[in-house]
Amino acid sequence: MDLVIKNGTVATASDSFRADVGIRDGRIVALGEGLSATREIDATGRLVLPGGIEAHCHIAQESATGGMTADDYRSGSISAAFGGNSCFVPFAAQHRGMGVLETLALYDSRAEGASVIDYGYHLIITDPTEKALGEELPAAFARGVTSFKVFMTYDLMKIDDTQFLDILSVARRHGALTMVHAENSGIIRWMSDRLVAKGHTAPRYHAISHPAAAEIEAINRAITLARFVDAPLMIVHVSTDEGAALVAGARLEGARIFAETCPQYLFLTRDDLDRPGMEGAKFMCSPPLRDAATQQALWRHLQLGTFSLFSSDHAPYRFDASGKLAKGPGASFRQIANGMPGIALRLPLLFSEGVRKGRITLNQFVALAATNAAKLYGMHPRKGTIAIGADADIAIWDPEETRTVTLADQHDNMDYTPYEGMTLTGWPVTVLSRGEVVVDAGRLVARPGRGRFVARARPDFTGYPGGRAPELDPARNFGAEIDP
Ligand code: URP
Ligand code: ZN
Ligand code: ZN
Repeated sequence: MDLVIKNGTVATASDSFRADVGIRDGRIVALGEGLSATREIDATGRLVLPGGIEAHCHIAQESATGGMTADDYRSGSISAAFGGNSCFVPFAAQHRGMGVLETLALYDSRAEGASVIDYGYHLIITDPTEKALGEELPAAFARGVTSFKVFMTYDLMKIDDTQFLDILSVARRHGALTMVHAENSGIIRWMSDRLVAKGHTAPRYHAISHPAAAEIEAINRAITLARFVDAPLMIVHVSTDEGAALVAGARLEGARIFAETCPQYLFLTRDDLDRPGMEGAKFMCSPPLRDAATQQALWRHLQLGTFSLFSSDHAPYRFDASGKLAKGPGASFRQIANGMPGIALRLPLLFSEGVRKGRITLNQFVALAATNAAKLYGMHPRKGTIAIGADADIAIWDPEETRTVTLADQHDNMDYTPYEGMTLTGWPVTVLSRGEVVVDAGRLVARPGRGRFVARARPDFTGYPGGRAPELDPARNFGAEIDP
């Protein structure tokens, strides 16, 4: 063995136990007592957890209107590693007129030589042409990009219901997972037009312009469409109790419907959008922040398993003319980039407020930090767990360390953190990726560019019954051969 992590408490999504972890050639080769090797890390009093997998983040990505995220694969991956992650899956965004494979090539050029941790991409599909659906998406799946996101809102990105059905059908046929940004575009436009016409342009009106009803309607429609063709669906960044309840109901009926929520919906509220001057712009994201009662409801859904994923939705736009204030200090909420940073604080927030405060178990934490993402995005058991044969992607946590969040301690390219001043207990100390120490005691010790692209498999949906609409079943539709 090259390396042994000794004397720690190992936790997976199911078990916690005292064991040494033996590593050779970047993989875990032994779990046992009294292991030894030439190099040893003493983890006495510490937790030895699978490295986090950040499954929703926007890195080196242009928005449809041209704004670039502040983080690239170097700063984004470094920031992720300091936050206890040893793998991340940012988006590769197709904009209209771009080919799918052209999009992947562009993101390859952005990621190669830059990342300190392993990475994959989810595609964003905004232009589902015949070629994209018939040739390019299958080619993308074959090269290990087995998930992709679509939008039901944003004028330059949204797809209509017919396109959504086409896309879901392709995903179903190839065993890929569709992710959806579920908000009703018409409600948002209708509300925004009226607010702006009355001069209500301050950041706080962003929350009013994206009402809960917009998310609830779109989640309901997305679930209906996915269930109609029996395609698995991941509803990302769910922000409402009612939206989560729709997911829970569909899951109870055996549908292959999954959901994600994000720290901002548990730790911030729409009152943050009402901070003085333009400060509220720092807290603008879509779907928007809700209220304290919704925070409690989302915690309940997290506890009960409605949410398989807890991701940061790190979408870093600086609070200056390169980001949030690109249209000037008096910009209307409609002109301000949506999104906020959080890639480094996702796990410390969940550990401190979830595990330390007794809301979730350590094993639930591990599932939400890494294992569920690895399973749903086709990386398990190579990543997302501590088991013989798995990549030695490991985060060693000090569960007692208490720190106050400050911008000065962040490693991203941002000029603010929405979590400034929060005091959190439990922090990652040492993060390994394929057996190599990336971060140790507050220092970066790995070389940008060492991170590798992870070709992901098709997710395994065995155990989720699913079932398509009777009108698509030749035994029940008078023999019509409609192959979804
Ligand atoms: O406001 C957000 N969440 N911006 C990032 C893009 C997205 O929709 O996830
Ligand atoms: Zn989204
Ligand atoms: Zn996002």
